[in-house]
Amino acid sequence: MDALAIHLGDRLGWYRSLAEDGPASPVELAERTGTDARYAREWLEQQAVTGILGVDEDGRFSLSPVGVAVLADPHSLAYSTPMARMVCGAAMHLPELLEAYRTGGGVSWSRLGRDARESQADANRPWFEHRLEGALRSVPELDAVLRKPGARLLDIGCGAVWSTIALAHACPGGHVDGVDVDLASVELARTNVESDDAVAQRITVIESDAADLPEATYDAAFAFECIHDMPQPVEVLDAVRRTLAPGAPLIVVDEAVAETFTAPGDDVERLIVRMRLGEVVFEIFENFGHNLPELSYAPCG
Ligand SMILES: C[S@@+](CC[C@H](N)C(=O)[O-])C[C@H]1O[C@@H](n2cnc3c(N)ncnc32)[C@H](O)[C@@H]1O
Repeated sequence: MDALAIHLGDRLGWYRSLAEDGPASPVELAERTGTDARYAREWLEQQAVTGILGVDEDGRFSLSPVGVAVLADPHSLAYSTPMARMVCGAAMHLPELLEAYRTGGGVSWSRLGRDARESQADANRPWFEHRLEGALRSVPELDAVLRKPGARLLDIGCGAVWSTIALAHACPGGHVDGVDVDLASVELARTNVESDDAVAQRITVIESDAADLPEATYDAAFAFECIHDMPQPVEVLDAVRRTLAPGAPLIVVDEAVAETFTAPGDDVERLIVRMRLGEVVFEIFENFGHNLPELSYAPCG
């Protein structure tokens, strides 16, 4: 119920209004956001009962600074609203998922729709904005790439392109190509690139299956949280190898799940282990490593 209610507060702009315009009564919140006051009351009371909102002395409902960071600030590392949106977005596809579980089929990323696409992008954005550059610069070889004038970088499975934008900021003398197979993601990506004048001229968003990329001489390629999503990861990784200059690295960043099945697990495992992501990525590399660039494994949290 909390995940569903958080999704409502997110999509109806209720958290944003409480964060930006301050505490509100149900009627005030409804007026500010163009929503229905009766339902706003139901939601505000549920949020207070569950401990997310406070109730001020005048009866208005308020969001604490911590609540703002977790529920309404898309740049905060604590921002967690996208996880509720992801759960709700996936649940809308339960009939197709049930069929896939019966038959062994699948539900493609493009079929999951807007909630999944946008929640994925929003969930990763703060880490790209705050942590990606530091993580890359902590590896001397990658720091050298980022400093290289005219460096050319490739970001496969770039989604809404927040990683590509962060790479362009981290590599001020370089150009970054973001590649995604999903047209809706590419359109969102192009809008997001346009919104950042500082780097827009140094980013190209390409709609393509990464497996079809032509040979090239990129100085580094990146795959953020996407290898495990791909039905044909080996073909993609093989193509990426051919896009790289001799000796240039491919950096795979994926969820930091436990490397082996352990039960019971912690909160992160409970959220993510359903897909056994770590094992999937390791399996790909163990089985097909001979087709790939030289491998090195450097966990960085
Ligand atoms: C989970 S999303 C991650 C998006 C982005 N890297 C991020 O971290 O926010 C996975 C992305 O990989 C893309 N993708 C999957 N298979 C692909 C392929 N063969 N070629 C290019 N993109 C692909 C999907 O369309 C989706 O945008």
